[in-house]
Amino acid sequence: MLPFTVITLLLCSVHWSTGLPFEQRGFWDFGKEFDVQDLLMMMRDEEDGSAIGPVDPEELPGGCPFGCQCSMRVVQCSDQNLYAVPQDIPTDTRLLDLQGNKITEIRENDFKGLYSLYALVLVNNRISRVHPRAFLPLGRLQKLYFSHNQLPSVPKNLPASLVELRIHDNLIKRVVAGTFSALGTMNCIELGRNPLQNSGLEPGAFAGLKLNFLRISEAKLTGIPKDLPENLRELHLDQNQIQAIELVDLSQYRDLYRLGLSHNHIRHIEHGSLAYVPNLREIHLDNNRLSKVPAGLPHMKYLQVVYLHSNNISEVGINDFCPTGFGMKKTFYNGISLFDNPINYWEVQPATFRCVSDRNAIHFGNHKK
Ligand SMILES: *[C@@H]1O[C@H](CO)[C@@H](O)[C@H](O)[C@H]1NC(C)=O
Repeated sequence: MLPFTVITLLLCSVHWSTGLPFEQRGFWDFGKEFDVQDLLMMMRDEEDGSAIGPVDPEELPGGCPFGCQCSMRVVQCSDQNLYAVPQDIPTDTRLLDLQGNKITEIRENDFKGLYSLYALVLVNNRISRVHPRAFLPLGRLQKLYFSHNQLPSVPKNLPASLVELRIHDNLIKRVVAGTFSALGTMNCIELGRNPLQNSGLEPGAFAGLKLNFLRISEAKLTGIPKDLPENLRELHLDQNQIQAIELVDLSQYRDLYRLGLSHNHIRHIEHGSLAYVPNLREIHLDNNRLSKVPAGLPHMKYLQVVYLHSNNISEVGINDFCPTGFGMKKTFYNGISLFDNPINYWEVQPATFRCVSDRNAIHFGNHKK
């Protein structure tokens, strides 16, 4: 474990507060499986409680599909060995949970009449086909969870109301141009653990999106993809095979706060690349092949967390992290990791860390062979 506070990877429901020390809150991390309780909490938060309050039993339309549990407009059909989406789902359902079944296909009329659906959970099934008209009734759907299935592509005609799409761990190799073009309110896409190469992201694949959060970790990327949504706050590309950061790679993402590039093959970061992301708070470059501290860190006024552990850095210069003038840095670092590098730590000047909040924020440790 790192000694300083590790900011856990949290998704989507991020509350930014500029000026304060870097912090964020959210509901999920990736080690955790999907939790319907969290979703219910979020529905309550987002909708002021009104949407899933007690419902007059007289108003309850329809029954409850066999094997499912229905209460307060939540229909739970998880882990029921279902081979298909059940029929007769009450039309006022707000949350439909079908995770952990054996569903292989979403058919045209599976969600017919579900005009009130807010969240649809299809995680952990065997879905490889989605009828192109299947989502058309879902005019109010905001959250679609499709992770751990066998989809070969992002489904077509996603509801325009969608805010969050998680489609992690599928078989997606291509994202064609215009896939997300009608989705102007989308905030967050989790697309990790798919066999995606850079060539599989067509030009215009992300056109039309104004995303805060994008994750394409555990894929087959060899470079930072081009033309991602411009107002991204968080970009996570860990566990790919990215070789370098080139000058233009980050040039479109002025609002970027967090950049995750751990566990790649990065040897080289072109001088000036980081100047394009002046608002960066946190960068993860651990487990790469860097032989020096990236250039430009002293000019990053807001940067607080830099992971550089498990690289091939043999020297750290006195001006690698901190600016030379006073007042240049608006927030001090509160996490720098350098362990597991071939550095002679006793040769690093203490003044190197003059813009770090306290000594515990630096993690050295020994180089492991
Ligand atoms: C690590 O850096 C040294 C030079 O500082 C270089 O000779 C060596 O090949 C590098 N190792 C790797 C694995 O890149």
